[in-house]
Amino acid sequence: METDQPRDPRLDPIGVFDSGIGGLTVAAALKNLLPSETIFYIGDTARVPYGGKSRKTVERYSIEIGGLLLAEQAKIIVVACNTASALAVPRMKELFNVPVQGVIAPGAEAAVRATKNGRIGVIGTRATVASGAYEHAIHALDPKLQVFSDPCPLLVPLIEEGLFDDPITDQVIARYLAPLLAENIDTLVLGCTHYPLARQAIGRAAGEKVTLVDSAENCALAVKSLLESKTLAAPTDHLGKLDVALTDATEGFLRTAERALELEIGDVDLRSVQSA
Ligand code: DGL
Repeated sequence: METDQPRDPRLDPIGVFDSGIGGLTVAAALKNLLPSETIFYIGDTARVPYGGKSRKTVERYSIEIGGLLLAEQAKIIVVACNTASALAVPRMKELFNVPVQGVIAPGAEAAVRATKNGRIGVIGTRATVASGAYEHAIHALDPKLQVFSDPCPLLVPLIEEGLFDDPITDQVIARYLAPLLAENIDTLVLGCTHYPLARQAIGRAAGEKVTLVDSAENCALAVKSLLESKTLAAPTDHLGKLDVALTDATEGFLRTAERALELEIGDVDLRSVQSA
């Protein structure tokens, strides 16, 4: 006789999303730290980039993608996009009945730990920089630190095109970093989850004296403690996996990120979103 086993919520996936492939940098960190967890990742490739859009639009997109992750039974939602973290996390926390973890606070913590001279640079999308979210998060930890921010709108399209290491990307990065380097920063926050894919090029332009920090590892640590505090962590003998869905069939970008991050991504599902 078959018995209906109640679902074990610890085996439900961690839901992760970004506007595109950038959030896979966070998914990779989650996978390394939490190999027992299943990760369900959605890249909103139909509407990437988010970074030049208004708060209202980014909120609407994020709530819609969050809903798709809840439909996958996500036990926690990780907003692996700085733009959505800066603009939409407060509203998502109000609406969703699972924990929502963004990437801004983990990135700010990493920067505060790394700086020695108290001068931190932040690069991100226009929307992230305009929101002041990093300044706010860094000053909440230490109001004496100085923060210099610069939007880098051309970087996401270059990275989505797989041009991580290309002279044109080097030129664009050099132009964007010049005003921050002139401020004698010793720490640079990669305040967009796409940027770690171009870490080498950014590191070359920033020079050896500047420490690059990003949110991925710190975000994974925050997710680990959230899951433990809610007794939602998957049992250690469970074998996790990474499932990926996109909102538009643009797999080329994905395969480039898969190689760069040494991820194993099998078949990719499609999910449809309402409107642009
Ligand atoms: N990867 C995202 C971020 O962290 C978004 C880039 C974009 O869609 O503009 O901001």
